[in-house]
Amino acid sequence: MKHLLSLETLSATAMESILAGAADMKRSRGQHACQPLKGQVWGLIFSKSSTRTRVSFEVGIRELGGQALFLNANDIQLGRGEPIKDTARVLGRMIHGAVIRTFAQKDVEEFAAFSGIPTINALTDDEHPCQILTDIFTFQESRGPIRGKVVTFVGDGACNVPLSWAFAAAKLGFELRIAAPRAYQPDEAFFQRAGATHFFATGSGPVLTRHFDFPSGGKIICIEDLQAAATGADMLYTDVWVSMGKEAESAQRLRDLSGYQINAELLKVAKPGALVMHCLPAYRGKEIDDATFEAHAQTIFDQAENRLHVQKVILAWAVA
Ligand code: CP
Ligand code: NVA
Repeated sequence: MKHLLSLETLSATAMESILAGAADMKRSRGQHACQPLKGQVWGLIFSKSSTRTRVSFEVGIRELGGQALFLNANDIQLGRGEPIKDTARVLGRMIHGAVIRTFAQKDVEEFAAFSGIPTINALTDDEHPCQILTDIFTFQESRGPIRGKVVTFVGDGACNVPLSWAFAAAKLGFELRIAAPRAYQPDEAFFQRAGATHFFATGSGPVLTRHFDFPSGGKIICIEDLQAAATGADMLYTDVWVSMGKEAESAQRLRDLSGYQINAELLKVAKPGALVMHCLPAYRGKEIDDATFEAHAQTIFDQAENRLHVQKVILAWAVA
């Protein structure tokens, strides 16, 4: 029995093993010889909206022989203040696994600690591990090993999606450039936590660039200059400017992040044939323009579909 609580705590070996199983899971859809969730009921406990994560987990659980029970956190006593540790101890006696989307990372960790059943993080304010494992699988499907490649994240560089990307770069040995205003970049303490062994800064003021190196050969560069960040990149990646839970900051974020957009101009400086990815949902005209989104829709919707295949590997891994 295993949990997937974060990429921070998932070993490089486990990441590689999940990624290695995804192609076969995708190919064998509809004819899986093994039903690792047979006879099991898994609960999906969600405190935030979801289309892809909810549907891909519900379908994935069924395709592996299990049943899915969707629990909107506001419809159960959790929404009226019942402690996580009590909810976890009750559900742990009734269901066989849990997939949780919530705000605080510590809530998923507490659920895992008290429930005694495999627990999967389906997005918190700190991380979106299933998304980033899927994104790496999608990249590798068409471009081969991600080690040594350059991924440029554009937008709110301090939200869950880039933070999970950062842990992946630190462990899997690729270069992640976070193109964001200084206030939307992770702080030094975060990179220390991620295991950075070398830090240096170049430039100053608005052109300050911070470089973090990791023993895996991974590098993370935090930079305000979007053009420089995209130059020669193998992939441009973005996410919403206003994450769930940050709605009160919408006006400020739209002002601060304006310009941190993936568009045709930016793509010109990336490596020829660079991939464009978006975790979705997309807000056209903000983090990506409509023409660029539509030109890369094949990749973006492969990425969305791959949530199903990769998460089925995660579910099988969690119960093994
Ligand atoms: N990308 C993603 O997690 O989408 P949902 O919010 O629709 O689940
Ligand atoms: N950063 C986004 C991801 C949505 C899938 C959010 O948390 O809303």
